[in-house]
Amino acid sequence: MKEHKGYAKLILFGEHFVVYGIPAIGMALKDLYTTCTLHPSDIWEIQGVNQSEVVIPALQSILVKLNLIGPYKAVFNSNIPVSAGLGSGAAICVSFTRALSYHHFLKLTDKRINELAHEGEKFFHGNPSGIDNTLSTFGGVLEFTKGKPFTSLEIEPLPLVIACTGEKGSTKQMVANVKNLKEKNPEKFQEWTKEMEEIIESARIAFEQHNLKTIGKLMDKNQELLYNIGVSTLELELLIEIAKDKGALGAKLTGAGGGGCIVALAKDKESANTIIQAIKQKGFQAFYSEQAL
Ligand code: PMV
Repeated sequence: MKEHKGYAKLILFGEHFVVYGIPAIGMALKDLYTTCTLHPSDIWEIQGVNQSEVVIPALQSILVKLNLIGPYKAVFNSNIPVSAGLGSGAAICVSFTRALSYHHFLKLTDKRINELAHEGEKFFHGNPSGIDNTLSTFGGVLEFTKGKPFTSLEIEPLPLVIACTGEKGSTKQMVANVKNLKEKNPEKFQEWTKEMEEIIESARIAFEQHNLKTIGKLMDKNQELLYNIGVSTLELELLIEIAKDKGALGAKLTGAGGGGCIVALAKDKESANTIIQAIKQKGFQAFYSEQAL
């Protein structure tokens, strides 16, 4: 049986501010993904994913759009941490939709797979911006503005370390907290939004030039803003500190925060390994990854 992939993603720049119309830059991850294989079956059987209360309705919403009923035996395999800001829900939806397309000879385009996966994503996130399913489907590095077509950024591979606190962050709660803060302090929030916009502009240029030092500095600046809007945690700060101590060029939380993961930019693969070892020694999970596709 053929395996069908949906990639994990991480947001390099612009989470939370993307909700208010600022572009974000995200990337699909080569080494973290979910695969799905479908088998004919007389009863519904889903293996390899937890969260059945969200997964089943999510998969059903995709089937309804395709006028399919099932039942199927769907076998998932995933190494993406759940509720960690890495897009595990979107990867499930993308891999399942790709498996359906293959199983039923539907020849769905990536554009259609992305649209269908976005339907499923709504069960994981409420009102997702769409960045997760887009990255999970198309891969690469993308600049994403809510409600607009995305643009692909051609960049050289980045040596990245992803480290997880193990705390589960709630995207919904974090987005609500930021909204509250924005309403209480509109002027300050406007100032931070402007700073975020400037970071994105500089990041575009730094990516073009493959200027790792500048990309790292911009990640640090982005983290300061995320700290200011209250979505960082002590554990996230601790992981960032370890990464920086061990030579990371920059580090920030990725995704909604309130737990979940950090992303650190290393000088090269060797330096990434030093960072990973130091983080693992403190009892946290850490991986090396470059962008997918
Ligand atoms: O934690 P994640 O990967 O779901 O990221 C959420 C990103 C936010 O900007 C906080 C919300 C959104 O819809 O873009």
